[in-house]
Amino acid sequence: MVEGRKQAKMAAAEAVVRLIQDGMTVGLGTGSTASLAIEALGLRMKRENMHVTGVPTSFASERLARDCGVPLGTLDTHGDIDLAFDGADECDPGLNLIKGRGAAHTREKIVAFGATRFVILIDESKRVDRLGTLMPLPVEVVPMAVAPVMNCLRALGAHPELRMGRKKDGPVVTDQGLWVVDAQFDAGIPDPAIVDRTLLDTPGVLDHGLFLNMATDVMVGLDTGDVEHLRR
Ligand code: A5P
Repeated sequence: MVEGRKQAKMAAAEAVVRLIQDGMTVGLGTGSTASLAIEALGLRMKRENMHVTGVPTSFASERLARDCGVPLGTLDTHGDIDLAFDGADECDPGLNLIKGRGAAHTREKIVAFGATRFVILIDESKRVDRLGTLMPLPVEVVPMAVAPVMNCLRALGAHPELRMGRKKDGPVVTDQGLWVVDAQFDAGIPDPAIVDRTLLDTPGVLDHGLFLNMATDVMVGLDTGDVEHLRR
């Protein structure tokens, strides 16, 4: 990771950990930036003898939280999430997001949906004028539905591609045991709300990486170590 970028992510991670109070239930996001926040939260809990329960959004964040000494709950035991934090792949001026580079977007959306506050941690490279310009839109799909879902994405103007494993032959398999189709749009997503509804209405789609009107706060870490705090 470029040093300035790591410092920026760390600044955003530390900013969200300062918002967390004793006794809170906290949604633990997935990815490199959310991981920095989980580590910083574990350190603060030890230092200040704080009690926080984390609800993880992936096997990865569950394992990291355990290593960092953050006690874990589930939505069955801890349904009222005070604050969820997570990274993002893109953030537009309305604080709408694309997530799912790590294929964790379905659980991330489930945990964030019920949270009182959903705080996104990014560096400046993630800010875009229009969603879908830098990153493809990930769509989690039941394997037998890959072909019709790809046709639906083509009809929406995207170029879909099945995500393949790096250290595993064959498709990436999500924490739910499903596959991911990445949909690249030539000049970004013209109408994210239509894409959102169309995909959710398509049989075989579990969920996709558009997070519209969900983030309450965005912490933009800067290379200087400062943080710009954007609020909805
Ligand atoms: C996980 O599937 C993603 O939604 C991540 O939260 C997102 O890709 C941001 O990850 P980084 O913080 O590693 O950029």
